[in-house]
Amino acid sequence: MTRNAKKLFIKTYGCQMNVYDSDRMSDALAPHGFETVGEIDNADLVLLNTCHIREKAAEKVYSELGRLNILRQQRRDAGDDLMIGVAGCVAQAEGEEIMARAPAVDLVFGPQSYHRLPELLARAKTERVVDTDFPEEDKFAHLPAPRKETTIARGLTAFLTVQEGCDKFCSFCVVPYTRGTETSRPVDQIVSEARQLVDAGVREITLLGQNVNAYHGQDQTGGSATLASLLFTLAEIKGLERLRYTTSHPKDMTGQLIAAHRDLPQLMPYLHLPVQSGSDTILKAMNRSHTRDEYLAIIARIRAARPDMALSGDFIVGFPGETEADFNDTLDIVRETGYASAYSFKYSTRPGTPGAQMEDQVPEDIKLERLHRLQELINQQQSDFNASCIGKTMPVLLDKPGRVAGQLGGRSPYLQAVHLDAPAALLGTIQQVEIIETRKFSLHGKIVTVPTTKSAKYARSEGEQLLSGA
Ligand code: SAH
Ligand code: SF4
Ligand code: F3S
Repeated sequence: MTRNAKKLFIKTYGCQMNVYDSDRMSDALAPHGFETVGEIDNADLVLLNTCHIREKAAEKVYSELGRLNILRQQRRDAGDDLMIGVAGCVAQAEGEEIMARAPAVDLVFGPQSYHRLPELLARAKTERVVDTDFPEEDKFAHLPAPRKETTIARGLTAFLTVQEGCDKFCSFCVVPYTRGTETSRPVDQIVSEARQLVDAGVREITLLGQNVNAYHGQDQTGGSATLASLLFTLAEIKGLERLRYTTSHPKDMTGQLIAAHRDLPQLMPYLHLPVQSGSDTILKAMNRSHTRDEYLAIIARIRAARPDMALSGDFIVGFPGETEADFNDTLDIVRETGYASAYSFKYSTRPGTPGAQMEDQVPEDIKLERLHRLQELINQQQSDFNASCIGKTMPVLLDKPGRVAGQLGGRSPYLQAVHLDAPAALLGTIQQVEIIETRKFSLHGKIVTVPTTKSAKYARSEGEQLLSGA
């Protein structure tokens, strides 16, 4: 830590890609004397990394900016300063509006400009800056890698963006506008980032993309890779024990990718595969480009390849024109699929999307009532799934210190949080754990193998110290 380091506080909203991006922004500013802190107090620079997916998400940003305006005024009264920047998808969609509505903001920049952040900040000292272009250059090629200690401090599981943007244009969704067209990073770039992560102690990597299974980056021979071939390449990295990917589109769930779930032991048996609605009429209006039966057929193929696959999904209720019968089709597809977890949302009208122009918008009270019914079913399925794990023994990656001394926290193959009694020396190892009970948001278990530090051979001792808070 540099004594005169400026303090950077980043508040992250939205999806995992924003979590990844916030780390990249922190890495981009570290060589310029910024130390990222976990508290807003005393920060010299605050960045809001925003989400535009639903109206509520976007409005949160403006209320936060209202609070920041007051904080900045207090700082100025005390003879100090505070710079404020807005990044992410609201910045991309509403750059000029942010500037007009929030006079305290110094800088607005979109997700494709993060590598230019140091330069934009320098400019923002003398003028208010808006940068929401989609630049020609590859931002990933220009973003610095984090220092090893930084990666260690971030933990034993990591996100890695491999694909960004979306060409699907679902009629409700802003992502194709905020993140641009589908682009994929070359395999070499991804492999080298994954190696750095593993070298710092990371054991599990989740590959990220708005449509991650549409991945088509350049492979090591100049041809085009697929997500499946990328997963096989990454699985060769020694010490990388687990791989996951999110979020997928049903249309891009290829036979090769499904086979990878059968053939690649590192690929975890958990898949987030949103369908959004169970009604063919609504799926068509949503421009999802697949039917209910096609989705169910894909699920059947996935389960044939990997019988213990746990599924997760996203649902929207109250899309324009949705009738009670359409909604019942959604309840029905949830029952038929059986999810280990799922997210559900009330349809939110997004400016500039085709859905916003549609007639037959569903009244709020009906949306809310349907949301409650759907969530009740989903919650039931989640607790049934968790309960079905009791008595089973499964490999758990012990990835963080527990809340109580003598405990560690881990992740099951199905992405459940698991707590158990274990010595800190087992951090970073995978242990066979018998699940004893379920709690509201987690499972509780006990190690059934004789504890061994053998599989911790890749763990870095400084990582263990940092992570165990020693
Ligand atoms: N790329 C992913 C999802 C990205 S957005 C996919 O194709 O599935 C995450 C989720 O937010 C979506 O799956 C959808 O369920 C929800 N969502 C997107 N736009 C929305 C809107 N206008 N109103 C409500 N929920 C929305
Ligand atoms: Fe949005 Fe559809 Fe693209 Fe997913 S596939 S990001 S829901 S437009
Ligand atoms: Fe939100 Fe942008 Fe992610 S709109 S969900 S932060 S891609």
